Amino acid sequence: MTRITRRDFAALAGAALLAQKALAQNTAPLVTRAIPKSGERLPAVGLGTARVFDSDDEPTRQAAAQVVRTLVEAGGRVIDTASSYGAAESVLGAVIARAALRDKLFVATKLEAPDAAELKRSLARIETAKLDLLKLHNVRDPQQSLAPFKAWQAQGLCRYIGITSTYHGDFAAVEAVLGRERPDFVQIDYSLDDREAEKRVLPLAAEVNAGVLTALPFGRGRLFRAVRGRQIPDWATGFAGSWAQFFLKYLIGDERVTAVIPGTSDPAHMADNLGAMRGALPDQEQRKRMVAFIDGL
Ligand SMILES: NC(=O)c1ccc[n+]([C@@H]2O[C@H](COP(=O)([O-])OP(=O)(O)OC[C@H]3O[C@@H](n4cnc5c(N)ncnc54)[C@H](OP(=O)(O)O)[C@@H]3O)[C@@H](O)[C@H]2O)c1
Repeated sequence: MTRITRRDFAALAGAALLAQKALAQNTAPLVTRAIPKSGERLPAVGLGTARVFDSDDEPTRQAAAQVVRTLVEAGGRVIDTASSYGAAESVLGAVIARAALRDKLFVATKLEAPDAAELKRSLARIETAKLDLLKLHNVRDPQQSLAPFKAWQAQGLCRYIGITSTYHGDFAAVEAVLGRERPDFVQIDYSLDDREAEKRVLPLAAEVNAGVLTALPFGRGRLFRAVRGRQIPDWATGFAGSWAQFFLKYLIGDERVTAVIPGTSDPAHMADNLGAMRGALPDQEQRKRMVAFIDGL
C-alpha cells in the first residue's frame, strides 16, 4: 500500500500529467466486455479502492481525484469500493461529486450484510441515489439469500447485484449462492499466480450468465515482487508494455472476465494499468506460456 503525503503530491501531479499524455497518444480501440445479463459494455480495466483510499484526509482525496480523472480520461468507468474500506466510500463520493463524474462511472460497492441501514449509509457516503452494482461482501453461507438485494434492485437503488469472495475456503458457498440466486455479477480473486477461479467459479459464472470482476489481480502486489529485476520476455512485448499490463492482460485474455479492478493510489500506475485495455490480448497459447513463465519463477 502506498500512503500519499503532502510532500509526495507535486511528484504525483507530474506523474499524472505524464500518464495522461501517454494515454492520449494511445489510440488503439478499448477492450470492452458485455455484461452478460444486459449486453451493456464495460471497459475491461477499472479501479479497486481497498486500503488505498481509506483515510479521509486531503492528500488521500487529492490522490483519489487524480487516479479517478486518469481512469475517466482513458475511457475507464468501473470503480469498486466497500462499506468496510475505511473512508473509501466517502473519499470516492467527494471526488465524484466535486468533478461531476457520476454519469461517467460504473460505481460498485459492497455491504457486509443485507442491511438497509448499511445500504443507506453507503448511498449517502458515495453521494449517489443509485449504485451501478451492489454486492454482498465475502459470502460464506451457502444458504445466503439475495432477496433483499433483489428487492433493492427492483426499487431502483442499484442497477445490478452481485456477490464476492477472495477466500478459497468459501468458494463452495460462492458456487451455491451463484448457482441458486443467479446474481448479475460475481467478484473473486484471480491473478496469474492464483488461478483457482479458473477451475471453480469462472465456469459456473459463464453457465449462469454472471459477469466476473477480478479482485486482487496483482495478488496485492505479490506479482510485482516475483518479477522484480526481470524484463518482460521478448515473446510478450507485442501485447504487454509493462509488467502490470502482462498481469492484467492474462486475466482479460479470458473472455469470461468482464473487468479487472486493480487497486492503486498512484495516477501513473493507474495509467499503466489502463494500457491493458488497449492493443492485442494474448491468445490461448500465449496465456499458457505466461502461466509456465510465472510458475517457473
Ligand atoms: N472480497 C472482495 O470483494 C475483495 C477482496 C479484496 C480486494 N477486493 C477489490 O479488489 C481490488 C484490488 O485488490 P488490491 O488493491 O488489494 O490488490 P491488487 O490490485 O492485486 O494490488 C494492488 C497493489 O499493486 C500496486 N500496483 C497497482 N498498479 C501498479 C502498477 N501499475 N505498477 C506497480 N504496482 C502497482 C498497488 O500499489 P500503488 O498504490 O503504489 O499503485 C498496490 O500495492 C481492491 O482494491 C478491492 O476493490 C475485493
